[in-house]
Amino acid sequence: MTGTLDITIEKIKKSRVSDYDINNVPFGKCFSDHMFVAEYADGKWQKAYIKPYADEPMSYATSAFHYGQAIFEGMKAYKNEAGEVSLFRPHTNFERLNKSAIRMAMPEIPEELFMGGLMELIKLDTDWVPTSETGSLYIRPFLIATDEAIGVKISDTYKFIIISCPAGKYYGEPIKVLVETNFYRAVKGGVGFVKAAGNYGRSLYPTKLAQQKGYQQVIWTDSETQQYFEESGTMNVMFVIGDTLLTPALSDTILDGVTRSSVLALARDWGMKVEERKVSIKEVFEAIEANNLKEVFGCGTAATIAHIIGIGHNGKDYALPPVADRKFSTKVDETLRNIRKGKAEDKMHWMVKVI
Ligand code: COI
Repeated sequence: MTGTLDITIEKIKKSRVSDYDINNVPFGKCFSDHMFVAEYADGKWQKAYIKPYADEPMSYATSAFHYGQAIFEGMKAYKNEAGEVSLFRPHTNFERLNKSAIRMAMPEIPEELFMGGLMELIKLDTDWVPTSETGSLYIRPFLIATDEAIGVKISDTYKFIIISCPAGKYYGEPIKVLVETNFYRAVKGGVGFVKAAGNYGRSLYPTKLAQQKGYQQVIWTDSETQQYFEESGTMNVMFVIGDTLLTPALSDTILDGVTRSSVLALARDWGMKVEERKVSIKEVFEAIEANNLKEVFGCGTAATIAHIIGIGHNGKDYALPPVADRKFSTKVDETLRNIRKGKAEDKMHWMVKVI
């Protein structure tokens, strides 16, 4: 039961899990046996069901395709050595999804529907949770507008769907990023603080241009002054300058990343100096010149910690300290992995057991 909604469950006849080496699959391309679907119409959530993962026919007029009422989350489930499966901070994703829903004029999802559907789904697909050191089950909840209508208006109907896929590392190697001052990920008053599909769509062209120049990602700057760093690619960005951890403060252009908040919580717990504020390009490049920039990394659910080893700016490439010298991000990466895999104490009560 999810509040007033029963979840109907149709199990797959024969699991597909043995078709894959789940500890060794490319990110986001092979999907586990089941999916969760909830349907919204006439002002309320109507029905919820779990069924074998499958494509579903949709009208070409579906409004999500045209006007972008589409939001999503990224979260992960982990398996410990005893074979128990837990989710990392699922309520944080639940709350953020509803923040996104409000901003995009979509219906909020009741907690029992989100958590109930998620728990039932992951219970059915525990065989898909990798056991490797860096492996997890990446879970993608998403909400889309489903009205078949070309007129621009708030949709009356929606589907909330959860699918999942086994995942290893998102980036195989440390990355090089290009400071982007012509295109912006987000603007003041826009939707950068929520997980709207369009935020990712608009990032692809500038990223393609950066990749043509030999970088893996861009590092976004603010649209008003181009003086401050915002995020890197699809991740929040952090700097260690001297002995201080610095990251752009949350605003309407910065996503409230779950990994971001977890890294900050651990740093504070370890007594590190932490500053959430505007981080200027000038201070970062001055720190590089003064040999005082110790670490730069992106953080997000898919990548966890992605070390940034080079930054390009104004036609010049700056090499950053080698990963082997990065004490903080290495420790935070290991600590998060150990908490998630049940090998370190979960002091902050982040893990929620599924089974
Ligand atoms: C995540 O880290 O979960 C993201 O949203 C990044 C990307 C896979 C879209």
